[in-house]
Amino acid sequence: MTHKVLVVGSGIAGLTAARHAREAGHEVTLVTKLGLGDGCTVRAQGGIAGVVFPDDTVASHVADTIVAGAGHCDLDAVQVLCENGGDSVHELAAQGVVFDTDENGQWCRGLEGAHSIARIVHAGGDATGARIHEALVAAARREGVRMLEHRELRSLTVRDGRVTGASFARTDSFAEPGPSSVEPTTSSAEPVEAPVETYTADAVILATGGYGALYPFTTNPDSATGDGIVIAARAGAEVRDLEFMQFHPTVLAVGEPFLISEAVRGEGAKLIDKTGHAFMQDVHPQADLAPRDVVARAIAERSPLDTASGLLEDPDRSPSRSVATYRGVPLDTASGLLVERAPGVYLDTTHLSADFLQSRFPTIDAALKSRGLDWSRDPIPVRPGAHFAMGGIATDVWGRTTLPGLYAVGEVACTGVHGANRLASNSLLEGAVFGKRVVEAIGIDLPVDAAADSPLDTASGLLEEQPRSPSSGVAAYRGAPFTRTALQSLMWENVGLIRTTDGLTEAQTQITAWLQNEQPRTMQDQNLLELAALVTQSAIDRPESIGAHFLSDAAAPMPPTANINTAVSTQQTFA
Ligand code: SIN
Repeated sequence: MTHKVLVVGSGIAGLTAARHAREAGHEVTLVTKLGLGDGCTVRAQGGIAGVVFPDDTVASHVADTIVAGAGHCDLDAVQVLCENGGDSVHELAAQGVVFDTDENGQWCRGLEGAHSIARIVHAGGDATGARIHEALVAAARREGVRMLEHRELRSLTVRDGRVTGASFARTDSFAEPGPSSVEPTTSSAEPVEAPVETYTADAVILATGGYGALYPFTTNPDSATGDGIVIAARAGAEVRDLEFMQFHPTVLAVGEPFLISEAVRGEGAKLIDKTGHAFMQDVHPQADLAPRDVVARAIAERSPLDTASGLLEDPDRSPSRSVATYRGVPLDTASGLLVERAPGVYLDTTHLSADFLQSRFPTIDAALKSRGLDWSRDPIPVRPGAHFAMGGIATDVWGRTTLPGLYAVGEVACTGVHGANRLASNSLLEGAVFGKRVVEAIGIDLPVDAAADSPLDTASGLLEEQPRSPSSGVAAYRGAPFTRTALQSLMWENVGLIRTTDGLTEAQTQITAWLQNEQPRTMQDQNLLELAALVTQSAIDRPESIGAHFLSDAAAPMPPTANINTAVSTQQTFA
């Protein structure tokens, strides 16, 4: 039976769902906020985890996922992920993803944090996400998925308690003011109108990704503003576990934030302090390959300047200015290397040859070289950055949300599979596994009389933007008007890697004041501000430390456990 399926988002989860929906005979339109390749999937470096090697087991992948998740995982979801992981990886290969092979033609095996065995496969060295994305876009085109770019989700249509479509602002024909940290020009501060398109559908699948843009230092693009979560919550869908934001331990600390894959530590790289001491051996039995939340906190504790403000020394992130000095320490302008080591943490890869680093990690190698850094010769400065949202729109293990007609998959969703801290390389896997299952659920859920007999309806009109007030562009948040920069600073300092009860309260007070008194200039800033309120409330509702939610003034964290009965989740509905 053919249905009209609307997919929002063009990462691995959205593309997988769209392709499977077409294969199931549905009429599919995929809509994405920017260009097809502008999300997080293409940035994924390390690889995709899955049980594909004979000496690996589903039980082992399950156990690693739950221990990394600090025992907070939903066991059913983990079981589904790991049981289906191997098939999903093979399916990607069948769709044209060429995973890297060794001299015997076998898939290369990568190791990352908290995995008890090397089970991660990669493509293009460290370009796994980009290669997967390329193959899935081609597959979606082959299958006849209609793909529309530059459409920003604005609302869900809900009729009689059921989601029946969604509205989008067309951003290709309309220049929305940039993030409100940027001083507006006179004209962009004026009320603006964007053409809006409304689509009706039998099923809407949200695959819009996470919300790294809530923080000033992130591996995510600026567009990761959590729109899907906020818009689903406004429509009445449950959201959960929003307090769990993963901070990736190793983001390049010089110039524009750039992910240095955990796979680099899988190849033996070590985190060292200013004196050259490899400190992770003092912190955790798995040392540099401990779970991400543990490693990120250990780095933050040794980077006092970072935890104070969370802001880059040069907040405009200008690569040229950042390369000239690093935390006030001059760089050799010829080589771009630090003249002396500043306080903080470095990733030491100097035991690996320049040739190996270039062939195994070509993307990172090129990025470092473009900044004048030679990682075969000198340790590189790293710091944690916001990376992945474990929480999101609450779904079952089939992608069903609490609103009929609305489904969610990938980072925007929360099945509970990642618990309080996602296991490395389980994110691409999540998109591949649940992106397929959601289509099975739609086939079961939709009444036969909902079948499509006409193309996906589109209604056009004009969306009226509210007037947006000019912003000051200041970085500090106390008493400051709302700007995206001020919000990011507030979140980093108070709802970031290391939290305190007072800090959470302070954040909530400021966010409430902004919500009551200010009108963000763009819808995305409005979404971020509402999301900040939800995230902060979730964090306040959890008075103990667990995984990525670390309260420094709380009782000792619970030890990791694989017992599902210990899993607790917060559930909220945006009022
Ligand atoms: C990485 O390569 O370190 C990031 C991959 C992931 O987030 O799992």
